Amino acid sequence: MALHRLTSVSIGVPNVAETAGYYEEFGLTRLDENRFATVDGGEQLRLVPSPRRRLVELGIGVGDPDDLESIAARLTAVGVAVEQTSDALAAIDAGTGVRVVLSVADPIDPRPALAIAQNGPGRPDRGTTRAEPILREDPVRPRKLGHVVLGSTDLDASERFFIQGVGFKISDSIAGLASFLRCTTDHHNLLVQAAPVPFLHHTSWQVDDVDEIGRAATALLEKDPTRHVWGLGRHHIGSNFFWYLKDPAGNFTEYYADLDCIVDDQLWTPGVWDGIKSLYNWGPPVPASFIAPDDLAELMAGSHNP
Ligand SMILES: [Fe+2]
Repeated sequence: MALHRLTSVSIGVPNVAETAGYYEEFGLTRLDENRFATVDGGEQLRLVPSPRRRLVELGIGVGDPDDLESIAARLTAVGVAVEQTSDALAAIDAGTGVRVVLSVADPIDPRPALAIAQNGPGRPDRGTTRAEPILREDPVRPRKLGHVVLGSTDLDASERFFIQGVGFKISDSIAGLASFLRCTTDHHNLLVQAAPVPFLHHTSWQVDDVDEIGRAATALLEKDPTRHVWGLGRHHIGSNFFWYLKDPAGNFTEYYADLDCIVDDQLWTPGVWDGIKSLYNWGPPVPASFIAPDDLAELMAGSHNP
């Protein structure tokens, strides 16, 4: 696959120092005042000043300089202007307003998570021991940036940009509303959804398992319960466990584990979903502010007065 990873995101916020403190508590490794790394992905987050919160830049890694040539040709063919250098290319998706930067990057090579023995009826697989997850005491460290969810004011244009242009594959969709797109074997690395204003809905960060989601989220909520958005639950599309929390600028951040992988494209049939399963399989009722974040009206007003 020419595309093989998300490299990094730059998120614009009005309150960089305060928001940086949140991502440090979230478990990312702080490199300096505004840059952060994950365990497996290296530097993956940069916070930059912006009058209103938004995704400024999305980085995607490719294998080879030739890949950049073919992506540039495809973007040009769908009418997108491309800026090209010897080792990168950049283009702006009109629907989401995000600058997408493609560059040659090393693949992510994760240390495999330990397989945890779990007891079940008639199956005492753990033997005579306590469960390993209850003994964990280290702070939770996200493994990588898994996906980004963006509101688009022109879903058709965004789909053309990311699918025909950049080369994402479609994994599932919600009819007329959203597309789950992948550039790796993860079920989704990008979700574009119809919205009245371009905005960042959430970034999602992989942890080892559901216990790590619980430990990480409860640690953040002990410090500030108002960070809670939605969780713990399990999505239907992508199958992942989730818990969403909010950074001080209003961007949602998700801890996730056990996302579907599409290791053989021929064996996956994309579905078109509607109804409650398009949102989740089980969990607390979905809060209205998850669908339409509380600051959406403010973001819409701000988009007319940048
Ligand atoms: Fe997500």
